[in-house]
Amino acid sequence: MKRFRPYLHYLRAVRSPLAGALLCALFYGVASGFGLPYMCSNVFPRFFPGEQFDPTHPPTTSDLLLTALAIPLVFVVRGVAGYLNSYLIQLCGVRVLEALRLDFFRKLQVLPLSFLQQQTTGDLISRGLSDTNQLQNTLTTVANDLMKQPATLVCAVGYLALKAYMEKGVVLVLVCLALVPLCVFPIRYVGRKLIKRAAQIQRHLGSVTERFSENLGAAREVRAFGLEAREVGRFGEVTRALITWQMKAVKYAQALTPAIEIISAFGISLTLVYAHNVGVPLNAFLGIIVALYASYDPIKKLGAVTSELKRGTASLDRLEVILDAPVGIADPVEPVAVGRLRGAVGFQHVSFAYRADTPVLRDVTVNIPAGTVCALVGPTGAGKTTFANLVPRFYEATAGAVTIDGVDVRAMRLADLRRNIALVSQEAVLFHDTILNNILLGRQDATRAEVESAARDAFAHDFITAFPQGYDTIVGERGASLSGGQRQRVALARAFLRNAPLLILDEATSALDSESEKFIQAALKKLMAGRTVLIIAHRFSTIRDASMILVFEQGAIVASGPHAEVYATSRLYKSLYDLQGVAG
Ligand SMILES: Nc1ncnc2c1ncn2[C@@H]1O[C@H](COP(=O)(O)OP(=O)(O)OP(=O)(O)O)[C@@H](O)[C@H]1O
Ligand SMILES: [Mg+2]
Repeated sequence: MKRFRPYLHYLRAVRSPLAGALLCALFYGVASGFGLPYMCSNVFPRFFPGEQFDPTHPPTTSDLLLTALAIPLVFVVRGVAGYLNSYLIQLCGVRVLEALRLDFFRKLQVLPLSFLQQQTTGDLISRGLSDTNQLQNTLTTVANDLMKQPATLVCAVGYLALKAYMEKGVVLVLVCLALVPLCVFPIRYVGRKLIKRAAQIQRHLGSVTERFSENLGAAREVRAFGLEAREVGRFGEVTRALITWQMKAVKYAQALTPAIEIISAFGISLTLVYAHNVGVPLNAFLGIIVALYASYDPIKKLGAVTSELKRGTASLDRLEVILDAPVGIADPVEPVAVGRLRGAVGFQHVSFAYRADTPVLRDVTVNIPAGTVCALVGPTGAGKTTFANLVPRFYEATAGAVTIDGVDVRAMRLADLRRNIALVSQEAVLFHDTILNNILLGRQDATRAEVESAARDAFAHDFITAFPQGYDTIVGERGASLSGGQRQRVALARAFLRNAPLLILDEATSALDSESEKFIQAALKKLMAGRTVLIIAHRFSTIRDASMILVFEQGAIVASGPHAEVYATSRLYKSLYDLQGVAG
C-alpha cells in the first residue's frame, strides 16, 4: 500500500463519493458480519423446540411473519449498501483514472523529444491506455473490498468474541480463528509470483500495441512489398507471448481462493471438535459457524485484493517511467522577458550529441544577423537538421550556447521563444481536423479573414475553395486526403499566419510536380521576405536566393558566407552545388 501513497492526492477530488462509499461499506459489514449470525443463533431457535423455545409463550403467527420479513430485510440492507458502495467506488475509480491518464498525457507533451525517441509509440499508447486501465481495475477492486471486507471481518470477529464471552470464554474464539494466520502464506506466495508475471503481461501488451500501430502506419508498404503473411506472423508471435504470460498469472491467481477455502474448512472442523468437547449448544454452534464463515470470506477476498494490488503495482511501475521522467528542457526559474524578437541567431562553441559517444555537432560557432536568409547545405547526416533543432530548443546543446538577439535560449520562457519561430518541416504534418483549424494552429486567435489571407499568400486558397466543403474539409489522419504539395501549402499558410520573425524551413527532399513546385517556391519567397530564415536547402533554386550559406560536414561548419565567396573557397560546396546545378 505504501507504494501508492504518492497518488493519494488524487482521492481529494472524490472525497464525497468516497465517504458515501465508506458509510455503505459499514452497513454492508454490519449486515453480513453481524446480522446473519445473530439471526441464526438468537432469532431462528425461538421457533423450534430447544433451549430458547418457550412452550408457555409459543411464537404467534405475527411473530413468525415479522421474523420471516427480517430475513429479506437484512439482505436488502446488505444488497443496497453493497450496490451503492460498488457504484460510488467505481465512480471514484474512473474519476481518479481520468486524472491520472490526463497527467500522463500532459507529461508526454513536455518530455524532451530525445526521451520520446527512445520509446516506441505503441508502447507509450499501451502505457497510457492499458496500464491506466489495469490501475483502474486495481483501484476499484481494492477500494471495493478494502472497505466492505474489513467491516465484515470486524463485525464477524466481534460477534464471535461476544458469543465466546457469553458461552465458553475466550478459548473458543482463539480456536475458531486459529488457522486464519495460515492464510497469510498462500497470499504472500501468490503475490510474489504475480507481480513478476503482471509486469511481463503489461510489457507484452506494449509489444502487441507496438506491432499493431507500426503495421497500420505502414499499410502501403505491407501491400507493396507483399508483407501480409510476415506481418500476421509477427503479430501472432507477440500475441502468443502475451497469452503465455497471462496464463502463467492465471495459474497462481486462481489457486488462491481454493487454498484459503481449504484452510477455512480445517478451521470449521477444528471448531466442531472443540465445541463438541466443551458442550456448546446447537444454535450457538450454528451462529458461530456462520460468523466463522463470514470472517473467512473477507480474508479470501482480501487475498484477491493483494493479487490485484500486485498487478496494479506492475502497471504503476510502467506509468512512472513516464510520470517521473525528468522534463529536462523546461522554463528557467527567472526567465528573461522577451517580446517580439528580431531573430539574430548565434551559436557559440556549440556541441551536441544524441548519444553520449557520438558527437553530431562539434564546436559550432556562427552568427546569423537578423533578416538573413541562410541556407544550410551539406551531405546527408552532416547535422543540418540537428543544427536547426537547437534553435527552438527541441534539444539542449551539450556544450556552448545558442542565442537569439544575444539572449541565451535557455534564459527565455519556452513559450516566448517558440512564439517567435515558425517551423515548416520536411514532411508537413496535419491534424485530423478541418483545413481551417489546421491553418489556425499557426496562431489560434487569428480571424477567418487572416486565415484566408495567409492561405492566399501560400497559394492554397484556390485549391481549398475548390473542395465542396472549402475550408471545412476534413484532411484525414495526418492530412492523408491531401496531396503532398497541398499539404505543404497548408503548412506554409500556417507559417504565414504565425508571422514569426524567425523561420525554420526543412525543405522537402522529395520532388514535387513542377506546378506545385512553382507555387511553393513563390510562396516561400514571399514568406522569407523580412525575416531571418534558416533553410535546409536541397534545391539549387533555394540556395541561389540565400544571402548566406553555411556548409556542414560531419557536424562542423566548414565554410560560411555569401554564395560567391563560399563557392570560391569550399571544395565541398562547389562540388555539391555543381552536382545540383547539373541535376536541377
Ligand atoms: N534522434 C536521433 N538520435 C540519434 N541520432 C540521430 C538522431 N537524429 C539524427 N541523428 C544522427 O545525427 C547525425 C546528423 O543528423 P541530421 O538529421 O542532423 O543530418 P542532416 O544533415 O539533416 O541530414 P539530411 O540531409 O539527410 O537531412 C546523423 O548521423 C544521424 O544519424
Ligand atoms: Mg535533415
